[in-house]
Parts: sequence; structure tokens; C-alpha cells
Amino acid sequence: MIDFTSRQVSKTDIAHQLDCIEQLSRRNALRPEPPRFYCQTFGCQQNEADTERIAGMLAQMGYVRTQDAVQADVIVVNTCAVREHAEKRVFGIMGQYTHIKETRPDITICMCGCMVQQEHIAEKIKKSYPRVDIVFGTHMLWRFPELLLRRLNGSKRIFDISGDPKGEIAEGLPVQRDEGCHAWLSIMYGCNNFCTYCIVPYVRGRERSRQPEDIEAELRQLVAAGYKDITLLGQNVNSYGKDLNIGMDFADLLTRLDAVPGEYRLRFMTSHPKDASKKLFAVMAGGKHICHQLHLPFQSGSDAVLKKMNRGYTKQSYLALIEQARSDMPDLVLSSDIIVGFPGETEEDFQGTLDVVRQGQYDQLYTFLYSRRSGTPAADMPDDTTAQEKQDRFNRLLQLQETINQQRQAAYQDRQLTVLIDGLSNGKQGSEYTHCGRTDGGLLVLVRGKNLNIGDFVDVIIEQTSLRALYGREIGKGYHG
Ligand code: 5AD
Ligand code: SF4
Repeated sequence: MIDFTSRQVSKTDIAHQLDCIEQLSRRNALRPEPPRFYCQTFGCQQNEADTERIAGMLAQMGYVRTQDAVQADVIVVNTCAVREHAEKRVFGIMGQYTHIKETRPDITICMCGCMVQQEHIAEKIKKSYPRVDIVFGTHMLWRFPELLLRRLNGSKRIFDISGDPKGEIAEGLPVQRDEGCHAWLSIMYGCNNFCTYCIVPYVRGRERSRQPEDIEAELRQLVAAGYKDITLLGQNVNSYGKDLNIGMDFADLLTRLDAVPGEYRLRFMTSHPKDASKKLFAVMAGGKHICHQLHLPFQSGSDAVLKKMNRGYTKQSYLALIEQARSDMPDLVLSSDIIVGFPGETEEDFQGTLDVVRQGQYDQLYTFLYSRRSGTPAADMPDDTTAQEKQDRFNRLLQLQETINQQRQAAYQDRQLTVLIDGLSNGKQGSEYTHCGRTDGGLLVLVRGKNLNIGDFVDVIIEQTSLRALYGREIGKGYHG
């Protein structure tokens, strides 16, 4: 049992960060032209949300965002540690960024996020990437203004990857969100599940939930600012509230947020099957703004593998769960994550996974080859399946899902759906389908019609389908309020 109560970073500490922002802003205002910053994000939506916070701080310091790293005065790379592939890509890109510093030695290069939270990675950067100025882990993100000011004032290279034994949450720092209709809204941080393959609990620390009133206040701001599609974020949203001891769970939070007036949609990710409840599905089904979309990773369809993964459910209990969700929400759009080639996975285990995919009839699958993460329990488990066999299983899984996807997409033919128009389609020139958007379930629709505007909810009739997109004709204004 983890005895852990999250608390907020003190007002004094936040005020100090705001003061560092102010000092840098005054300094930058004296420059003939505003300095520029460039951010690159690897990994999940939580990382994207974190980058928006870093961008918010930099913008308030007077930096202007550029999409060209070569032009930047400050470069921030927000890294991911979930799979080895992402780590290799980060090291590849760091070579390019540090090269820029050969001709512009005064720029500041920062690395943050899950990958650098690991000690062996921080050591490697210390030794092999001397041009990286600031390295800060996931727990130090809110201290970025202080770290940047220190470095710009002449401090030697900064490495701050300390952990966070107190589980602090920082409120009251700026955010610069990407333009458009969509916004991320973090409701909690960290993970307590310790799935044996996963590095996340080690690099993001224990679960800690934001106070419901802070989340609600941010939702109200987002709605007032015109955001229409808001995703609640957490590594495992179904654990929301356990650490707060206020008798509120995720379903209660959703009910509270759904009562916020306005024309917007709410979605959330990620859910862990072990904590997804009937109560949650009932709230989703009865909600006004809550999308009938569920990302419910099952990882493997073999009970033996699930046990070794420490997932806390069986194939059967998982299948019963999605049956319940579909009976409460017949229009549910369902997606999942799967790992192929977990240590010791046999062909029979893998057949179990294919079976869940067949029965689950997912709209989207995110499939991964197992990647060994040093420091996790699975890294020491015997693994005698060849890389070729794993790849073969992976290919068979993709093939099966492609057939299912095709059928599921085709089933939308002639159906009426509500779409939030969120951009121009960049398809074939001269195509009538000039705009694109998402359904409640998150499906991509290319839309044709008169007077279409980004940010509008419209009703469409689906008149064509393909593997990747639906094609709809607008028949009138939709509504989501
Ligand atoms: N190897 C492969 N995939 C992984 N994931 C997490 N850790 C690993 C790993 N070591 C996948 C899981 C998770 C998703 C975010 O990433 O499927 O749900
Ligand atoms: Fe990793 Fe499991 Fe936590 Fe998800 S629930 S972040 S897979 S440990």
C-alpha cells in the first residue's frame, strides 16, 4: 500500500519562478529583436502538454516561437523513454542541434522529460554531449525559469534530475497551447501500476491528482477561450482521486466537469482496464459533453503474459468489460494498445492476442514490439523468441487489424455523424472535400459543404469510406452543448 498524499508546490516557490520569468522578460525586451525558441516533443500526449507549459513560460519571458531550430536562441527537446526507438531518435537529433552551437555558441540547448530522468542517460549526456546546457527531469519542469536564468547568468551546465518524494503539483504557471480547437487538460501525473515492461512509474513518479476545483477552473477557461475538443490527460485516469482522500473518483470528476456549460466535447486518456468501472461507463453514456470514445489498452490476450506483465485482469474480465461498455454505448469508438513479443510470449499466447483483437473489433490499435527497458522487472525475464518471430507476429497482427478496420470504416457508410471541423484537408487538389474534422469518437472525416468554418460542429452524412478516413456531406449545423 502506498501512503502518499500529493500536495501543491508552495506559493513562494511559484512566485520565485514568476519572478525569474519577469527578470528574463525585462532583459529580452531590451534586445533589438525578440529572441526565439524552438521546442521538439517526443512521445505521448502528456509530453505534448508539458511542452505547452514550457512554451508558455518562454513566451512570457519574451521569446517568440520558431519552427526552425537553426534560428532559435533556446532549443528545448522534450524526450520519451517508453521505447528504445524514441531514445535513439533523440540522440540522433541532439547531434544536429549541438552542431548549430558550433556557429552560434551563445544559444541555450535544453533537454527534459522522461528519458533524461534516468541516471544513465543523464550521465551519457554529461560525457558525450558537452554542448547541452540544461538537463531537467519530469519533476523539475516547473523550475525551468529558474534553471534558464541561472544558466544565462553564467552558471556552469545544469543537471537537475532529482526525484519528487513529496509528489508536488505546480499550479499557476503559464501555458501556451497549440492553435486550433483542441486542448489537453492534465488531471493527474505519474503512475502506480508498475506494469513490468514499463519505465513510466520510474521516470514520472507516483500518481498525484490535481484538485477538482483547479481542473474545473481550467476547463472553464478553455471553454471561454473557444476550445471545443478537450482531452483530460493522465497515465491512468481511472485512478483519479485515490491520493486526494476526498471521496471523489474519476467518474465523479467527469460528472462535475460535464456540468460546465458551453459548446464543447470532453474526452480522456488513458484508462486502465483494472480500474474502469460500470459507474464510469454509465456517466459516459449519460453525459452531455462526454465523447463515446474509450482507449482501453489490453497489451496481451494471454492470461499467463498478463500476469507476468502485472496488469491485474484476465482476457475474460477484459472482454466482459468492453462488452459492458458497448452495451451502455452502442456507438462507442474503441481503441487499444498491444505489445507483441513480451519476454516468454509463445505462439499460443499470441493467438490469445489475435483472439481479443477479433472479438474486440477495435476502431484503432496502437501496436508495439516489446522494447527492453533497463531497470524494469521484465528486462531480466528470459526471452528466447527470435526477433524475426516477433516481427512475424507483429505483421500478422497488423494484417488482421487492417481487415477489421476496413469493415468498421465501411459500416459508417450512409450514417449521420456530428463532426467538429478542425482544419483544411490537404488532400487531392480540386477535391470537393475541403475541410477535415473529427467525430465524437475521434474518427477522421473529410467534409464537403458550403460555408464550412473551423471550430463549427456540423452534421454530415457519410458518403464514402476508406481505411484512414470517412467522407461526409454537410447537412446542417451540429450541436454539442
Ligand atoms: N515496450 C513496448 N511497448 C511499451 N509500452 C510501454 N512500455 C513498453 C515497452 N517497454 C506501450 C504500452 C503502453 C503504450 C503507451 O506504450 O502498450 O500502453
Ligand atoms: Fe506504464 Fe502500466 Fe502505468 Fe501505463 S499503467 S504508464 S503501461 S506502468
